[in-house]
Amino acid sequence: MTTNEHSSRLTGFYNQTIAERRDVIAAWAEFDAADRSALDGGLDENMADRLVENAIGLFSLPLAVAPNFVINGREIIIPLVIEEPSVVAAMANAARLARAGGGFRTGSSEPVMIGQMQLLDVPNPAAAAARILDEKEALLAQIADLHPTIRKLGGGLRDLQVRFLNDTPAGAMLVVHLLMDTRDAMGANAINTACETLAPELEALSGGRALLRILSNLSDQRLAWAECSIPVSAFASDEYDGEDVAQGIYEANAFALADPYRAATHNKGIFNGIDAVALATGQDWRAIGAGGHAYAARDGHYRALTAWDVAQGYLYGRLEMPLAVGTVGGMTRLHPAVRTNLRLLGDPNARELAEIIVAAGLAQNLAALRALVSEGIQRGHMALHARRQR
Ligand code: MEV
Repeated sequence: MTTNEHSSRLTGFYNQTIAERRDVIAAWAEFDAADRSALDGGLDENMADRLVENAIGLFSLPLAVAPNFVINGREIIIPLVIEEPSVVAAMANAARLARAGGGFRTGSSEPVMIGQMQLLDVPNPAAAAARILDEKEALLAQIADLHPTIRKLGGGLRDLQVRFLNDTPAGAMLVVHLLMDTRDAMGANAINTACETLAPELEALSGGRALLRILSNLSDQRLAWAECSIPVSAFASDEYDGEDVAQGIYEANAFALADPYRAATHNKGIFNGIDAVALATGQDWRAIGAGGHAYAARDGHYRALTAWDVAQGYLYGRLEMPLAVGTVGGMTRLHPAVRTNLRLLGDPNARELAEIIVAAGLAQNLAALRALVSEGIQRGHMALHARRQR
């Protein structure tokens, strides 16, 4: 990722016209003529026809940017595709607040995808599992050459694991997990091909019948996390005491950790940020949503994805979740506006993009909770709704 020395803090941007904002962003990100014209929508009918079946036209949504982000010390402006008022302004405000504490710190695991192979009618599951695990190296060797590009880039197969599902409505089954580092690819095709190729060997070893051979969207081997520490004084205003607001954010998060009814709304707010960046950067946002919500219920109880705490004059926040994203192939190759948006982000690799996305999710949650525990969400929301009536 190239570093931009200049600040992402854009004052007065909100009051400019679309054309003026375009000029500012084009200059900031050093867009060329093709990048600029991609901002008009980017996708044409030919490309739409290549992407899906039965295309009859195109469908547009607003493309906006959230300035003010600092992530791991780097100044970043984040592209967002979203129809909901308030989300963009909220994210820009939260990023400005987080700057008071040095911005967001992020990290991620290696980009390891999980594929599942379901084995039914296995005569002796324990013995079958032992045989499969005894043959692990040979099984992995058999499919090691399926994806030479991923391998050349340092990715490839990482492990094979066996799980027992003893009590399902269809009886006992064995599930074999294949773990593959897919580098900068989202990796759905790579892992699905590997599972389909390996399944007959597993049938032979287990004496069972392979049914599903497909990735898991609970990609909990492919996590990204973001944190921020903001001085509580940053939340002070004429109307509100900074400590009260920070304490309120902690208490609001506690509500969402304990109650699934609140957690669904809390996490929806996080996805306001995540999905908007995911759409702008050509990601499979349904996969991200499925993984995030499943991860939120990983201890058997659906909870907030975030942790917030107040200590020693700081509000501390953390969001960690699965983020299976890619910066090569698929939409990133076909959609000109996606390429332009990735360029605005400094052409990140998949892990860097996941970290930007998770920081956007944490920022969105911070903005929602800050508003909810102070003036409420409707004041800002209704002011923006009024724009639609003009
Ligand atoms: C609205 O789109 C999102 C919020 O409801 C999120 C939340 O309640 O935390 C404001």
